[in-house]
Parts: sequence; structure tokens; C-alpha cells
Amino acid sequence: MVEHIDGNRLQSDLRYRFDYLSKFLNFNSDDIAMLNTFAPIVFPLIPVLSDAVYRKLFSFDITKQYFLIRNDGFQGFMPKKDCGLTVDSAQMTFRKDMLSVYLKRVLTQTDWNDTFLQFLSQVGKMHTSQSGSTSINVDYIHINALLGFLEHLLIDVLFNADSVDEQTKRGILMAVNKFFWIQNDFFTMHYLMSLKDNSTSDNTKEPTKTSKCCWI
Ligand code: HEM
Repeated sequence: MVEHIDGNRLQSDLRYRFDYLSKFLNFNSDDIAMLNTFAPIVFPLIPVLSDAVYRKLFSFDITKQYFLIRNDGFQGFMPKKDCGLTVDSAQMTFRKDMLSVYLKRVLTQTDWNDTFLQFLSQVGKMHTSQSGSTSINVDYIHINALLGFLEHLLIDVLFNADSVDEQTKRGILMAVNKFFWIQNDFFTMHYLMSLKDNSTSDNTKEPTKTSKCCWI
């Protein structure tokens, strides 16, 4: 039997898109339960993971540069140029907290309701040029690389968790992997939206399809 999927609706309805991805990847309530089981194993290590992520981003000038731009909620000193901004600067500690909040929310969420899907989508959108004044404009190549790096960090934590039996480890591994592909899609959909918008604005002809995102 062939299930019909509406291509236009995939572009305009976040829940519909998530349901399609979930069916395709076989991501279900068991996977969510596995992520929740993983939470207490990861939590004590979140500061270490967060630190590793920012050390990685700060080890290349092309990724470090994104952190030299002032961010809204931070009131402390913010260097405009790279005059010694380090992973341990006050403002970086603030940002590391944001990653901690993200990881904690993903691992503890029991009901993947619309608000949570919007949260995953918003995280993706803010890294593109689609988010108005809060846009960070990170090139997608770095997002892809960091998603891979973060997933490897989590797999490493899992494989070092001696208290977890092999079957549970397998379940957690599968759930983590599925999650990363879903989050990756929630990044790429906004990047593709940016591309479409750019090509539409470059184009003098009337666009045939609407390319505006209506999820957020
Ligand atoms: C695994 C992929 C990534 C995830 C899950 C992620 C997650 C986040 C989250 C949760 C926030 C805070 C959102 C908020 O304000 O509530 C954030 C902000 C930010 N991210 Fe990412 N991010 C990723 C990749 C990247 C990469 C590759 C870069 C740069 C090379 C980057 C640069 C930034 C910057 C500059 C901010 C703004 C921080 C601020 O305003 O203080 N992110 N990210």
C-alpha cells in the first residue's frame, strides 16, 4: 500500500512534516522513552559536553567568528574584534548555558507536542538569515559538522555508561541517531527556505509558488 504524502503540506505544516519523518525513520514513543532514559546518564556530563562543543567551534577562525557578534540577552563586556575571546569568557559561559538548556530539553521532553516541535524548528531557524534581528547566519556546513560532532560526543557517553545493559544501549543509540536526523531536517528546511527566498528575490519573473515559511 502506498501512503499519500502532500508535498506542499510538508513545506507548510510542521506537525505534518514531523509525522512524515517519524514514519519514515520509525521514530516513535519508544524512542522518546529511550531519550528520557539517556537523560540522567548525560546530565552530569553536560558541562563537559558543552565545553567540548565550544572548544571545537573556537578551534577554527571560521566558526569562532560567529561568536564575536554581540548577542541580545547578554549584558556583560562583549569584544567587537577577536581580542582574546576565549571559551571561558563570561559571555561564552552564558552561551554554554544555552546549549545545556537545549540538551536538557531534548532529552527530558516526554510529549513531543507542537510547542516542542516549534522549539526544535526555532533553533534551526535562528541560525539562518530567516529570523530577523535574531538571525545568526551560520553557514550550513558548520551546522552539519557540529551535529555530527555532538552526536559522536553523546555516543561516546553512552558507550562508557557501564550501568546500562546492551539492549538499552542499542535502543538509546537508535533513538539518538533518529533524533539527530530530525533536528538536521529542522535546520535544513530553513536553509532551503532561505535559498528559495534569495532566488525568488533575484528573479524578476513572478514566483509561481509561495516560499514564505509559516511555521514560526
Ligand atoms: C548542532 C548544531 C547546533 C545546535 C543544536 C545549536 C543550538 C543553539 C541554541 C539552542 C542556541 C540558543 C538559542 C536561544 O537563544 O535560545 C544557539 C545560539 C547560537 N548558536 Fe548555535 N547551535 C548549533 C550550531 C551552531 C554553529 C555551528 C554555530 C557557529 C559556527 C552556532 C552559533 C551560534 C550563535 C552565535 C548563537 C547565538 C548565541 C547568542 O546569541 O548568545 N551554532 N545555538
